[in-house]
Formats: sequence, C-alpha cells, structure tokens
Amino acid sequence: MADITVRKMTFEWPDDLGVLPIPSDLIRSCELLGISMTLPYLEPYLIRTMRMAAMVTRDETLRSDLKNFSGQEAHHHRNHSQVNALIKSKLNSKTTEALERTEAALSAEYHEFSEEQDLKFNLAYGQGFETMTLGLALMLFEEGFDHYDSAWARLVEWHLAEEIEHRSVTFDVYDKIFGSYLYRLRVGSWAQSHYLGYAFRFAHILWQELSDDPNRHDHEHNPWGTKRKVLKAHWQSGLVQRVLKATPPWYDPKKIDTPASVAAALAKYDALAA
Ligand SMILES: [Fe+2]
Ligand SMILES: [Fe+2]
Repeated sequence: MADITVRKMTFEWPDDLGVLPIPSDLIRSCELLGISMTLPYLEPYLIRTMRMAAMVTRDETLRSDLKNFSGQEAHHHRNHSQVNALIKSKLNSKTTEALERTEAALSAEYHEFSEEQDLKFNLAYGQGFETMTLGLALMLFEEGFDHYDSAWARLVEWHLAEEIEHRSVTFDVYDKIFGSYLYRLRVGSWAQSHYLGYAFRFAHILWQELSDDPNRHDHEHNPWGTKRKVLKAHWQSGLVQRVLKATPPWYDPKKIDTPASVAAALAKYDALAA
C-alpha cells in the first residue's frame, strides 16, 4: 500500500494577496496560475476516473490507495478553487470572462471524457498527467520556494509534496487493470499536451493583463504561442528531460528517490492540517 496521508488544509488567504505566485517571474507565475485554473476541473475528473477503477478492481490495497489519492486531490482542488476565485476578483472583466469561457470548455471536455471514453483511456490520461506533475514537483522542490510569495508558497509546496507522495497510484492502477505499455505512452503523451494546451491558454489570458509588454496583444508575442517556444523554454528549465525519463518501459514512479525536503514538507503539513 502506498503511504498516503489525506491532510485537510485550510489556508488563510490575505485580501491583499499578490496575484503573482513568484513576484520576480511573470512568465513562471502565469504558468502556475494557468495550472491552478485547470485544477478545479482536472482533479475532479481524476477522482471520477479513480471511482470507476475502484468499481472494477477487487484488489483491496489498490482500492485503499485510490481512496487516499482521491482524498488528497479533493482537498487540492477545493483550495485551488478558493484562490482562483480570489485571483479572478483582482482582474478586469475582460480577463475573467476569457478565463471563465476557457474553464467552461475544459469542464465540458473532462465530463465528455468521463462519459464517453473508456476506463483504459481515462486511466492512461490520468497517468500521463500525474507523470508530468511528478516531474514538475521534483523540479520545483529542487529549486525551493524561498522566492515565492509566502501565502502562495504554502499552497504550492503542500500540493506538490502530496503529488510526490501519491505518485505511484495512477501508474499502479493502470498497470494492474490494463498494463499495456504502448497505449499508456501514446495516450499519456497526448494527455500531457492536451492538458498543457489548456494550462497555457489560461497563462496567456493572464499574461495579457499582467504584462506591460506593449506587444502583448500580438499573437506572435504569445510566450506559449507555438510548441517550439514552449519546448525550448521547458527544455531550458529541465522539465522536458524529467518527463522524458518516464518514457522507458522500466519506468516506475515508486523507484524514484525523492529529496529530503519533500519529507520535511509533508511533516510540516501533517502538523498544520486540521
Ligand atoms: Fe493534486
Ligand atoms: Fe495528483
């Protein structure tokens, strides 16, 4: 059984919360905000998928892991919904309308996946997303959170530490129920690019309001406008290489060593949880 603790966190958000999670880095901040905007739709979709998987497996250990995974994801999306609403209240109506149109499209797509795609597809999608999130979480833990706004740092550190804690669940459930490597790779890679398409759409909407670049409304100045630009930026950050490490058939997230700072963060949030 995976060692997963469901922590109920209640974060206090100051009214004067800064919009940028990393005040010194507008682009990275817009990406983190873009990810945050997807989570109230993505994480409930993962929970729906895990519920369906729990109905088809009799493996009690796996069922318990699925329950704990969903417990963590439920607290994640509730906290992100709260901060997303606060951030939207600080933006102009043109930006919030564009964000809400994108939210509606994403929500509709994930409901369509739950209703019209089979369990194999939905589990492979979840595994693709979690694999990429694990790469991002390990990268951000290595960088540390000292340069973050302090209120944002708590949310990001708690969420990513739990992503690392439950890293094996979507991999194990897909592996035990279906186990086809090539399908996992194909749908998982597609899932990553589908998900990032939305995260970067949100990031771009936010950047258009938050940037003072005079050309920010020209399409060619969109930092996420082409796959090439995105790949180049995330090759430089090291994220692409981390995600590629998860592609060989012998990949197993359980075998990944995690930095000591993750265990320290989990212990810290154990003490802070309600
Ligand atoms: Fe999460
Ligand atoms: Fe997760």
